[in-house]
Amino acid sequence: MHHAIEPSIHYWGTPVVLISTLNEDGSTNLAPMSSAWWLGWSCMLGLDASSKTTENLRRSGECVLNLPSDTMVEAVNGLALTTGSPAVPLHKKLLGYRHVSDKFEAAGLTPTPSMVVTPQRAHECPVQMEAVVEDIRPFAGGDPRMGVPAVCVEVRIVKVHVLSDILMAGHEHRIDPDQWHPLLMSFRELYGRGEKLQKSRLARGPEEAYAPWKHTGIKGLAGKALVAWSRHRYGGSEQPAGADTHS
Ligand SMILES: Cc1cc2nc3c(=O)[nH]c(=O)nc-3n(C[C@H](O)[C@H](O)[C@H](O)COP(=O)(O)O)c2cc1C
Repeated sequence: MHHAIEPSIHYWGTPVVLISTLNEDGSTNLAPMSSAWWLGWSCMLGLDASSKTTENLRRSGECVLNLPSDTMVEAVNGLALTTGSPAVPLHKKLLGYRHVSDKFEAAGLTPTPSMVVTPQRAHECPVQMEAVVEDIRPFAGGDPRMGVPAVCVEVRIVKVHVLSDILMAGHEHRIDPDQWHPLLMSFRELYGRGEKLQKSRLARGPEEAYAPWKHTGIKGLAGKALVAWSRHRYGGSEQPAGADTHS
């Protein structure tokens, strides 16, 4: 029997991201978050508008999305209930947050230079995505149950770094989902992902079918034309189909 309930939170289970952003003094802030999802090479982030991360994203327009593995719980717990904001917002004070200036030290992680953006990567994270901000807008302003001022931030990935351990054998650019063990947050607790249940029907076709920009010759032209036609027919992003994918 189902029950109609009034949960305080809707944290149903999403990957933890350690997001690097640039502080005004040139140092890198690192913060755990998990309201994140990806579509294509773009990612939508749900953030507390008062966080240092949001302030940094507004000012510098760059970040790194570092994905910790399920062996990195201590790093995430080291950052939990901390903020890079010297003036801790009142709602965070009430939740027990404190200011920490060196987040890498608090997490026990090592900063390492990025290739395209200025904020540093977290070396120990098996996945690091350098990204630039495309759009920031208020989120859930009309939702009377929203407890914090929130924004959604659309970022576009410009460089992806992964440990070779999680690459599929024989493929230079493909993640092996059997080898990738993300850290997940569900209702504030941290989990691994368990084992694969059974072969997925969705995964039957070639992964490259999702990447029309990788095709060359006739196939490439046909792919671009299909993307352009689909955008025209169904709406969506205004970016022209042949646009540069690497900047
Ligand atoms: C596992 C985990 C997941 C979190 N998910 C989010 C999130 O999705 N969005 C958010 O705004 N804060 C999230 N937080 C809280 C942020 O870490 C918190 O806002 C923090 O103050 C951000 O750091 P900053 O102020 O230095 O940017 C999460 C915290 C933890 C430990």
